[in-house]
Amino acid sequence: SNQFLTLNSGHKMPIIGLGTWQASDEEVEAAIDVALEAGYRHIDTAPIYRNEKAIGRVLKRWLDAGKVKREELFIVTKLPPTANRASDVAATIKKSLADLQLDYVDIYLIHTPISVLTNEDGTIKLDSEGIMEPDLTSDITTTWTEMEKVVANGQAKSIGVSNFDQEQLERVLKIAKIRPATNQFEHHVYLQQRDLVDFCKAQGIVVTAYSPLGSKGIAKYNAVVGLVRDLPDLMDIPDVKQIAAAHGKTPAQVLLRWIIDRDIVVIPKSTNPERLKQNLDVFDFKLTAEESAKLSKLDQNFRVCDFSLLRGCERHPEFRFKNQYTK
Ligand code: A2P
Repeated sequence: SNQFLTLNSGHKMPIIGLGTWQASDEEVEAAIDVALEAGYRHIDTAPIYRNEKAIGRVLKRWLDAGKVKREELFIVTKLPPTANRASDVAATIKKSLADLQLDYVDIYLIHTPISVLTNEDGTIKLDSEGIMEPDLTSDITTTWTEMEKVVANGQAKSIGVSNFDQEQLERVLKIAKIRPATNQFEHHVYLQQRDLVDFCKAQGIVVTAYSPLGSKGIAKYNAVVGLVRDLPDLMDIPDVKQIAAAHGKTPAQVLLRWIIDRDIVVIPKSTNPERLKQNLDVFDFKLTAEESAKLSKLDQNFRVCDFSLLRGCERHPEFRFKNQYTK
């Protein structure tokens, strides 16, 4: 059931990966085990998800037992906003590889175009109100040049970006000796970002869709910072439910298939065994042209991951996430 897209680096990327944000260590260890058993080979993580060590432990068990070969895995991790500056790239990828217990990752992404100031211990510097301070000295193009060295060192097979808009990508492309292989951003029926998708495709940059199912789980994080927002349930949209029923599939499977059909990688997150199996089982049905068009008409420019969790980030000049739902 695993299908692949070929990146501009020549490497193949499984079109479905397992998202791991919003999962605890214990949840993640169990989920990765089930996921590998179910056939997932692509796993998406990041230092800010705080689960690289847990993932590393499971991968080591599988690799040591010979149940999977390293070259069959596709592991994604990211340079966090706390280290998004040229001088921090080398030490940060080294730490991720140590935590993941790997010699290399398949792709290393700049997690956000935003950079934030940190305390001595590398945690985000917050004022008494919990507001972070943007780092105005960092620059995505000098960071990119350091990212290229990660490939030269063999620590990543490919490199890319995440949460970049077209203008930010253009700036990187202008100086890039190695072009970004992917741009990972929020993409689903309610936030389609067609211009950005088209631009990436025209530039040979594979789109990776995060929150492909609408990321309802973000609500509990929003609550922590006192943010109350009504989040839509994409799996409850009547058109989605009706199309799912017509194929004997679930709404989640329809949402994922609609994305994959346009050669976009998806990384649905689940820690539930049934649901994570379900999310990989999307190749035995086909959406009709009418169904696909119906889903394409659902766009609402509704951004779920609007960076509200990083309070103060809107003061950063690279912040581009304002939309009608972002205050
Ligand atoms: P759970 O981990 O309990 O399955 P996204 O990938 O867009 O961030 O969405 C992930 C959210 O959707 C999580 O809350 C996850 O919960 C839930 N989810 C993942 N897969 C499915 C599915 N097949 N059906 C229903 N909910 C799902």
